[in-house]
Amino acid sequence: MKIVVIGGTGLIGSKLVKILKERGHEALAASPNTGVNTITREGLAEALDGADIVVDVANAPVWEDKAVLEFFETSGRNLLAAEAAAGVRHHVALS
Ligand SMILES: NC(=O)c1ccc[n+]([C@@H]2O[C@H](COP(=O)([O-])OP(=O)(O)OC[C@H]3O[C@@H](n4cnc5c(N)ncnc54)[C@H](OP(=O)(O)O)[C@@H]3O)[C@@H](O)[C@H]2O)c1
Repeated sequence: MKIVVIGGTGLIGSKLVKILKERGHEALAASPNTGVNTITREGLAEALDGADIVVDVANAPVWEDKAVLEFFETSGRNLLAAEAAAGVRHHVALS
C-alpha cells in the first residue's frame, strides 16, 4: 500500500515511515526537505499520485498563535484538495 507521510522527516513522521517500511508498505516521507510543501503545493500532486492513505504529521515552523493557525488552515486545505484530486480515500491526522 502506498502511504504518504506529510511531515515524514520530523520526529514522529520519521519513526512512522520506518515502521511502515518494515511492515512492507511503500511509505513516502513528504516534506519541504524532500520536495513536498503543503503551503506552496510544490511536489504535492506528484507525491499523492497513486497513494492509498495520507498521514499528516506536519508541524508549523513557527510558534506565534496566529501564524500557527494560518499554517494548519492553509496546509490542511491544500492537502485535502490534493487528496480529493488524487482519489486518496483515507486521511489520518495527528492533532
Ligand atoms: N512530538 C510530539 O510528542 C507530539 C505529540 C502529539 C502531537 N504532535 C503533533 O504531531 C505533529 C508532528 O510533530 P513532530 O514533533 O513530529 O514535528 P517536527 O519534528 O517539528 O516535524 C515537523 C515536520 O513537518 C514538516 N513540515 C514543515 N512545514 C511543512 C510544509 N509546509 N509542508 C509539509 N511538511 C512540512 C517538516 O518538514 P522538514 O523536515 O522538511 O522541515 C517535518 O517533517 C505536530 O502537529 C504536533 O503538534 C507531536
